[in-house]
Amino acid sequence: MKLGRLNHIGVATPSIADSIIFYRDVMGATTIHDPFDLPDQGVKVCFVDTPGAEGAMNGTQIELIEPLPGNASIAAFLEKNPAGGQHHVCYEVPDIHAAKAEFEAMGKRVLGEPRIGAHGTLIFFVHPKDMQGVLTEIMEVSAQDGH
Ligand code: CO
Repeated sequence: MKLGRLNHIGVATPSIADSIIFYRDVMGATTIHDPFDLPDQGVKVCFVDTPGAEGAMNGTQIELIEPLPGNASIAAFLEKNPAGGQHHVCYEVPDIHAAKAEFEAMGKRVLGEPRIGAHGTLIFFVHPKDMQGVLTEIMEVSAQDGH
């Protein structure tokens, strides 16, 4: 495995609308994308850009995640963490299927098959118990893409 760019940090929130105000007014975010529903995953999502390093095209994003009605896993997370909280981290890889095979060869539990994620590219999650307690998303990004 070769560690890729930290694409985003997933943050669960009971209210994306309230979180947008927080990131704008408290954190000074200037680029907050329009929220959208990902019905397949039972969530509403909103990306907040952080600045890139000098000379870099894209900074790491914050992915705000709010459960849609019927969502069980994010709703359970918010039951334990009513104010919201850090939910997952997401690293980029050039080839999602190669990455899945590598994690599995190391005995890491990949949760389901690669599927289309919030950025429209293939993603999978790796079980937090196999990842030092961190729910880890792996996302395919072609060399030209960034996000
Ligand atoms: Co994510």
